[in-house]
Amino acid sequence: MKLYSLLKKYSKKHVIAMHMPGHKRHKFLHNSLPYDIDITEIDGFDNLHNPNGILKERMEFASKLYKTKRTYFLVNGSTCGILASIKSVCENGDEILIAKNCHKSVFHAIELMDLKCSFIPSHFDDETKIHLQIYPEDVDLCLKNNRGIKCVLITSPTYEGVISNIEKIAEVVHKYNIPLIVDEAHGAHLYLTNNSACQKGADIVINSLHKTLPSLTQTALLHICSDRIDAEKVSKSLSIFESSSPSYVLMASIDECITFMSKFGEKYFARLQKNLDCFKEAVKNLKNLKVLGYTTSHNFYDFDMTKIVILTSQTNIDGEELMRRLRAKNIELEMSYVNYAIAITTIFDTKKDLLCLAKALNNIDKTLENVEKNIQIKNIDNKVSLTINQALKTSSEIIDINQSIGKVCAEYVYVYPPGIPILIPGQIINQETCEYIKYIAKHNLNLISTTGLLPNMIKIVSNT
Ligand SMILES: Cc1ncc(COP(=O)(O)O)c(C=O)c1O
Repeated sequence: MKLYSLLKKYSKKHVIAMHMPGHKRHKFLHNSLPYDIDITEIDGFDNLHNPNGILKERMEFASKLYKTKRTYFLVNGSTCGILASIKSVCENGDEILIAKNCHKSVFHAIELMDLKCSFIPSHFDDETKIHLQIYPEDVDLCLKNNRGIKCVLITSPTYEGVISNIEKIAEVVHKYNIPLIVDEAHGAHLYLTNNSACQKGADIVINSLHKTLPSLTQTALLHICSDRIDAEKVSKSLSIFESSSPSYVLMASIDECITFMSKFGEKYFARLQKNLDCFKEAVKNLKNLKVLGYTTSHNFYDFDMTKIVILTSQTNIDGEELMRRLRAKNIELEMSYVNYAIAITTIFDTKKDLLCLAKALNNIDKTLENVEKNIQIKNIDNKVSLTINQALKTSSEIIDINQSIGKVCAEYVYVYPPGIPILIPGQIINQETCEYIKYIAKHNLNLISTTGLLPNMIKIVSNT
C-alpha cells in the first residue's frame, strides 16, 4: 500500500490522538491544508530515521525506479542531502575538491566540518557567460597534484541546464579511490532519458524532487549508487541534518511522486518533449532574443532541454526586465540574471502554456532593439588565503567595498537565485570582484551578503 493511502485510511478512523502534531487533525480546521494526514511516528507508520516498515518499502520502490543501491526520502530538500553526503565521506579537516559553481550548502558543509577546499578550474562560455561543464582532464590534474583529496563534488545539471560528462569524471575520480558526489538537484527527471548521474557512475547523487517533478517543496532524494559508500554513515549523517520529526505529508508527496512517475513518467515526458518541439517551432523567428539550444546551438557537453534559457545579451534589456515584462503578461519565470532569464518546464506544462510563452516572447522581441552589449560577467578567480572556518573565527571588521581590495573576505556573497557564492570567507577580494559586485547590484539582482550591507560595505578579516 502507498503511504498516502495508509494515511488517508487512518484519517477516517476514530482515534483519540494524544500525540503530536498539535492540530490533532481537527475537523474544525476548515481549510484545505492536509491536517488529516499530518501525523507523527505512530504505530504502523514506521520511522524515517530507522525504517523497517512502510517507509523502508517505499524507499526501496524509489530505489528501483532510479536503479540505485539505496535511496533515502529527504524532507529538508537537497540541502540536507548535500550536507549529509559530505559528512558521510569526509572527516573533519579533510580536503574536498569542488566545482566553483556549487550551491551554498556545499560551502556550509565545508564550514561545519572545517574542510579545506580546492576548486576545479571553471570555464565560461564566451557567448552566453554561462559556466561550461566540468572537464574530466581538469579533475584529473587536480587529483594528480593533490593526493590528499578525499572526495569530489560537482553540480550537474546546473541551474542553467548544463550537464557534465559524469561517466568520464567518475572514471577519473575512481582512479584515485575516492567517491564522486553529484548535486543533481535540478535533474530528478534525467533518469527518464538514462542520463542521470545514478546511471553514469557517481557514488552519491542528490535530487530535489520539488524542482522538476510533481512533489511538494522541500522533498528530495539521496541515492547511494556504489559500494564505495557506507550506508550506515549516510544514515547517521542524515539523522544530524534532517528533522527528527519528518513530515508525513512531505513523505507521502514523495511516495505519490515516485508512484506517479513509475506509472506515467515516460508517457508524460514524451508529451513534454513533443510540446517543447512545438515551442521550438514557435520561437524560431525571434530576431533579438535567443533561446539556448532552441534558436541557437550550445557549447556544452550536454544540455537539459527542459530548461528554457532566454538570452537577452543582444537586446536593449536585461534578464530582470524580460522577467518583468513576462510577469505583466501573467507568465512568471524561475529566475533572471544579467543576460538571461530561465523558465523551468516539467511534465505538467501544457502545449497551450508553452505556446503562450512563445507568443509573449515573440511580442516582446518585436519591441526590442538589437544592440551589442559589453556583458561584464567574468570567471573571477579570488585567491584563497584562509579556510572558511579560519576566516569566520578570526576577528573581523566592516569596511567600504572600495577599500576592500587585497583584504580577506569574512562573509559569503552571492546572488539568489541561484545561490552560488561570488565570494566565500577566506578569499582575497580583488578589483574584478569589487567591480562585479557593483555591476550585479546595478542590474537589480538579489545580491545577498551575510551582513546584508552590500553593495556598499563588506566584512573582512581584521588586519589583512
Ligand atoms: C544546484 C543546487 N543544489 C542544491 C540546491 C538546494 O536544493 P533544495 O532547495 O532542495 O534544498 C539548490 C537550490 O536551489 C541548487 O540550485
